Amino acid sequence: MSASPSFAPFAAETRRRRTFAIISHPDAGKTTLTEKLLLFSGAIQIAGSVKARKATRHATSDWMEIEKQRGISVASSVMQMLYRDHVINLLDTPGHKDFSEDTYRVLTAVDSALMVIDAANGVEAQTRRLIEVCRQRNTPIITFVNKMDREVREPLDILDEVERELGMPCVPMTWPVGQGKSFGGIMNLRTKAMTVFDSGQERLPQDFETIPLADRSNLIARFGSEFETAEQSMELAIGASPEWDHAAFLAGKQTPVFFGSGVNNFGVMEVLDALVDLAPSPRSRMSHLTTGGQTVTKEIQPEDENFAGVVFKVQANMDANHRDRIAFVRMASGKYVPGKKLKVQRTGKELRPTSVVTFLSQRREAVDEAYAGDIIGFTTHGGVQLGDTITDGANLQFTGLPFFAPELFTTVILRNPLRTKQLQQGLAQLGEEGAIQVFRPQMGGSMLLGAVGQLQFEVVQHRLKSEYDADVKLESSQYTGARWITADTPAELRAFTDAYPQRMALDAADTLAFLCTSPYDVRLAQERFPKIHFHPLREHA
Ligand code: G4P
Repeated sequence: MSASPSFAPFAAETRRRRTFAIISHPDAGKTTLTEKLLLFSGAIQIAGSVKARKATRHATSDWMEIEKQRGISVASSVMQMLYRDHVINLLDTPGHKDFSEDTYRVLTAVDSALMVIDAANGVEAQTRRLIEVCRQRNTPIITFVNKMDREVREPLDILDEVERELGMPCVPMTWPVGQGKSFGGIMNLRTKAMTVFDSGQERLPQDFETIPLADRSNLIARFGSEFETAEQSMELAIGASPEWDHAAFLAGKQTPVFFGSGVNNFGVMEVLDALVDLAPSPRSRMSHLTTGGQTVTKEIQPEDENFAGVVFKVQANMDANHRDRIAFVRMASGKYVPGKKLKVQRTGKELRPTSVVTFLSQRREAVDEAYAGDIIGFTTHGGVQLGDTITDGANLQFTGLPFFAPELFTTVILRNPLRTKQLQQGLAQLGEEGAIQVFRPQMGGSMLLGAVGQLQFEVVQHRLKSEYDADVKLESSQYTGARWITADTPAELRAFTDAYPQRMALDAADTLAFLCTSPYDVRLAQERFPKIHFHPLREHA
């Protein structure tokens, strides 16, 4: 569909939307920055409320912590704020590395990412993995170098590392004067002014003093050699980095870099402004619909009139009395208004939510209207899976939601055999949620659970008991890997499954997988059956 104004009734709305996630290593300052962004956009009034929730979560025992995290992740999965007449959707990502699969899926629902780096530690392990996902999708990344009020590394050194790790050039937008005790502030390369640092949490960003860089003698008088050193290193940085190229940033080939101190409210407004001024509004998404062996590809524009979206997260309701779930849909096009009739592409059935909500900072509220880029939560009693495409009638299929081949497996043994039905229901639902991957061996026998991180097993065991009253024992399994299997012809597939009947299993989406006990298994099987395709990653299709 054309994007000309007559065919794009929602263009004005989609253009003012920004949907992003923060990626960082634990302790770099994600919680602090999230809170400050909400505070400065006016979305929350009370400083400390996001942090307070994080604190309660640390004060509890292991599984309580898991519960709390789930609670928190429902409450703060999505935070919407209004800033400079823009609707900004911030998607939260789980902090623990064992839930990284969740994070990868959240990253498929955003249009840009904000990378927070601790200036003393540089790019750390968990950030590196998340960057990889962004890079695969060419997601534009804004970089915030945090904690400049501490003794940290030289800014040039940090830029160099970011550049190496990201594999893309950095373009500094602000530049620090000093650090730690002698942190004087940041020079803004756009406005050509220095914002003077002052510690404390009370100050609003607009209250910081600014001095034009042209007033050099004044700056030298105030900040002495720190200022001159900063000028020199800034010159070096500018000389070594390319010109700012907005198109290159949007293509994920350049990152703007900001310096600051989140806890001191310093340098945060610059990031919020960058989200509005630089980060992209929702872009078109490709639908690849396969029917009868034929794939029809269609480009869906955000301003298109028809509703389309994809389920990137499914979360069980925290209320034990309600066995319902919230399906988080990232809208790709159209407009949502209450009562709109929607269908699930996979089943062709109507989606009948009991409630439909948006996420206003920390509250859930009934949706009035929503557009491409927004996230809406549909409370349902089932019938929706992770990766489902939701439309208001058209046949579309968004692909690309990743499932990773598990590296850890356990078998599930039910302590009370009379609870088999509950166990099956529980595993089916937890599998659909993506909390765990469930494999049913084709030869029968105990169900297998597959995970990327060990904590996922603990969550599932706990949830099976508390939500489904199914007390299970998890026993280690001989399997150490799985590969999803496809073949060009049904005959080839049959020959393969006949050769390894005891290794074949179906996952929650009924996709065939080959279970392995060592990496050699795959190699051997591949040598024997060169025409079979072994996939370490399954994209929901
Ligand atoms: P995370 O969500 O990425 O895990 O990090 P979080 O915001 O919780 O920040 C981790 C720690 O770093 C917190 O300290 C926080 O106060 C501190 N921090 C965040 N930004 C800055 C900054 O700009 N400068 C300095 N010096 N510290 C910063 P904590 O001791 O774990 O918690 P708290 O007792 O300070 O709340």
